[in-house]
Amino acid sequence: MKPPAIEDHTSGGPVSVGTPNSKPHYHPRLPWPEPGNPVIVAQGLGRELGTLVKTPVLLGIDLTIRSGEFVSLTGLSGSGKSTLLYLLGALDRPTTGAVFFEEHDITTLDDDERAELRSNAFGFVFQFHFLLPEFTVLENVMIPMLRRGKRSRDRAEDHAIAVLDSIGLTPYLERRPSELSGGQQQRVSIARAVANDPKVVFADEPTGNLDSKNGILVMEAFEKLVREQGITIVMVTHEHTFAERASRQIVMSDGRIVNDINQR
Ligand SMILES: Nc1ncnc2c1ncn2[C@@H]1O[C@H](COP(=O)(O)OP(=O)(O)OP(=O)(O)O)[C@@H](O)[C@H]1O
Ligand SMILES: [Mg+2]
Repeated sequence: MKPPAIEDHTSGGPVSVGTPNSKPHYHPRLPWPEPGNPVIVAQGLGRELGTLVKTPVLLGIDLTIRSGEFVSLTGLSGSGKSTLLYLLGALDRPTTGAVFFEEHDITTLDDDERAELRSNAFGFVFQFHFLLPEFTVLENVMIPMLRRGKRSRDRAEDHAIAVLDSIGLTPYLERRPSELSGGQQQRVSIARAVANDPKVVFADEPTGNLDSKNGILVMEAFEKLVREQGITIVMVTHEHTFAERASRQIVMSDGRIVNDINQR
């Protein structure tokens, strides 16, 4: 089956990544919009990990991420990318320093408050999609919205349909995750991550399990979210082609930021 083309309104037409047997191609990189106000600020962020022996894995990270930025986080395995991402996304607590979201210190929040913050303001995409196998694609995207309770069931369903449509998944609404390709599954997890209108999406190697064609589709879905909805994305990746397309590339080494390149 031919993969669905993603409508890319910024380049004037649908982007095709080719048929299953053709070489994937990627539209030329367009300039990125100017970023807005700071959304996530890290100050002197340090993290030690380990039970018997404490190892410092992050060493005083200072970082400001502005709204509408698409930040890629690269660096060798073990350099601290995931650790930093989890701290910025309120999934973990730092040993020293603080993280601010829209000027509020989130490091002082208790577990329930952090869970509420994550559900209200953040979306997450991981290397493994963690979709619920017994539910359909549509239900997987609706569930976080119903849990949050901001939308009625009907409105959650309409919104889920619209979000899935925007990333080319309309033909698959009633399928189970196991009946989709890896790239389609990952795009469902992106739809799920953005369905609650998050301010920031954190992604840890979202294309790590995908072939290049599906990796491009996932990247196009992210690029579209940033350009059309002004969502802020922080994405850990090992793939340089993808890292270089982001609006900003942060490089880590041994628990520190060693390069921070504006790519707008
Ligand atoms: N629970 C833990 N206990 C001790 N050390 C840990 C623990 N979790 C991670 N580390 C160490 O922290 C360092 C940073 O890990 P992290 O997962 O952030 O790296 P990464 O840059 O995401 O690597 P990768 O690209 O392989 O995912 C590594 O040296 C790792 O061994
Ligand atoms: Mg990692």
